[in-house]
Amino acid sequence: MNLNDVIALDEKYYMNTFGKRTPISFARGDGLYLYTKDGRKYADFMGGIAVNALGHSNPVVRRALHDQIDKVLHTSNLYYVENQALLAEKLVKMSCADKVFFANSGAEANEGALKLARMYFYKKGQGHKNEVITAINSFHGRTLATLAATGQEKYQKPYRPLTPSFVHVPPNDIEALENAVSENTCAIMLEVIQGESGVHPLTHAYLKAAREICDKKGILLIFDEVQTGMGRTGTMFAYEHFCIEPDIFTLAKALGGGIPIGAICAKDFCSVFEPGDHGSTFGGNPFACRAALAVLEVLEKDELVENSKVMGQYFVDKINDIKTDKIRQIRGRGLMVGIALGVDAKEVNKRLFEKGFLCGTVGDDTIRLLPPLNITKDEINLFIKALEEILA
Ligand SMILES: Cc1ncc(COP(=O)(O)O)c(C=O)c1O
Repeated sequence: MNLNDVIALDEKYYMNTFGKRTPISFARGDGLYLYTKDGRKYADFMGGIAVNALGHSNPVVRRALHDQIDKVLHTSNLYYVENQALLAEKLVKMSCADKVFFANSGAEANEGALKLARMYFYKKGQGHKNEVITAINSFHGRTLATLAATGQEKYQKPYRPLTPSFVHVPPNDIEALENAVSENTCAIMLEVIQGESGVHPLTHAYLKAAREICDKKGILLIFDEVQTGMGRTGTMFAYEHFCIEPDIFTLAKALGGGIPIGAICAKDFCSVFEPGDHGSTFGGNPFACRAALAVLEVLEKDELVENSKVMGQYFVDKINDIKTDKIRQIRGRGLMVGIALGVDAKEVNKRLFEKGFLCGTVGDDTIRLLPPLNITKDEINLFIKALEEILA
């Protein structure tokens, strides 16, 4: 099929929620690069929106998945699942969590985390504590509850009435956060770096205050690490930068390296789900967990979390070296980078695409970059050269 045929089929049969897609389709990937059927090559600096932490077609993941396909894909959670148990153990040993539950996406993991927070207070006989405070401009997913948690009116408007009991506060305003806590609050839920709304980090002081408020009021701190987790920001989990531990955090995106899987990770004291309280047909199946185990193996073996930190700094330094007055601000951490421009970011993105680079934009002014964590200096240099030429 040629691209025009694909576009025609898509327009006829697929519900277009994604707007005007970039007119391209990829036939295969290898490392940083994606290839079209006719052999055109693109450097993927968007990483499948923070999913492809190992780049494309990583040989270790590929081999593990081939092996798993030959064994068994799905058995259901009526039975014990070896890969599920192994993955849960691995995530617990590398994080502040004591228990894990697997879902199939970021939204679903967040949905589960919200249910867990409510269940924690329900089981204490304080069911009235069901309100969750989240930040304005946050993004937590597209299900009805996570949409209500998301602090962005534009996504919510058509779906009113929203799931009740979410309170939104301006990010990095400690006083507003403190004032928003009521008798009914069960949790504060935050992205450590707000990704989807433009790569806006929350400050150390704010995150520390959030932890202190939660401790003082006896409520739960949930970090949505769906995008920031798995080494993206230069530590395995973004909370590690701040020596602050959440009570619950969620993962998805890079966890399965392209195979859908999400995780709710929680401290022992609030891991209160018991039989019947929650569930999932697909969640934690042998195939998805094998993918995540392989991703973790490569992250560790190839020291990619460290590479994310070092290359992230290199990337920012090189952007700073570009001689231009068109770069206003560089935001982010590790390999989660936002470049705010004084010119139309969509136009710059279009030119980058013409030069063979896949990037994203947020709003009118920000270029968003989420390259694989195994990116090299040479690959970053190619991008910098292209950006420098475009801005000139
Ligand atoms: C921080 C954050 N949370 C949740 C989600 C939703 O994840 P999913 O699209 O897998 O449901 C996203 C997706 O962009 C995200 O960035």
